Amino acid sequence: MRKKIVAGNWKMNTTVTEGVELAKSIVAKVNEIPVGVSLVVAPPFTHLTSVAEVLKGSPVALSAQNCADQPKGAYTGEVSAEMLKDAGCSYTILGHSERREYYGETSEKLVKKMALAFENGLKVIFCVGEKLAERQEGQHFDVVSAQISEVLFGLTPAQMAKVVIAYEPVWAIGTGVTATSEQAQEIHAFIRKTLAAHFGEDVAAKTTILYGGSCKPSNAQELFACPDIDGGLIGGASLKADDFIAIAKS
Ligand code: PGA
Repeated sequence: MRKKIVAGNWKMNTTVTEGVELAKSIVAKVNEIPVGVSLVVAPPFTHLTSVAEVLKGSPVALSAQNCADQPKGAYTGEVSAEMLKDAGCSYTILGHSERREYYGETSEKLVKKMALAFENGLKVIFCVGEKLAERQEGQHFDVVSAQISEVLFGLTPAQMAKVVIAYEPVWAIGTGVTATSEQAQEIHAFIRKTLAAHFGEDVAAKTTILYGGSCKPSNAQELFACPDIDGGLIGGASLKADDFIAIAKS
């Protein structure tokens, strides 16, 4: 059985005070979550140590939203994987479409970031997904397959065990438009098949693949009922503890 995960990507939202309150509200309701579902929250860098304090002793894991592609040194404005681990993170998100689109995150950089994440004992939530025009042109399988092969195919099966994939169609992120469960299942099954072809059936069957993009309490149940969807990476709806918990209960 692979792990089911619901992860909240807070993006650039909340002050530290608000983030601590949000984390407390989530921890207060964590006993409502079904057995076998793991919760992860990914606050901004500035919140990590304070939120880590709140999560201490709870089953909720802490994630960063990104990490540097260098281990340390003269890289103004960057935060290293070692710092994230030290701040209490067990995960980092890598390759989110907003990072790819606005901050020039290439597969080449992601390979370096992922290696540093592993060196520092972090697990990785690795995001993939096509843009609207790519889907309209029928290129979504090729785009996702390239994103996966360029970054993940250099990993060992042991490293793959530390990767969670999040399929997030860019046209569904923050737009209110969700992929239908058929569209999501189709590409999740494709991702699993792509992993199986390279790593073998065992790795493919064990890899958790999350859906992300306008996932909310009203549509989570239908999405999570699909055989290859193992949970969600939640943006907007993760900023309200009740919605986030409702999604995790789905
Ligand atoms: P959204 O974002 O749920 O607000 O669409 C998801 C994500 O980008 O991780």
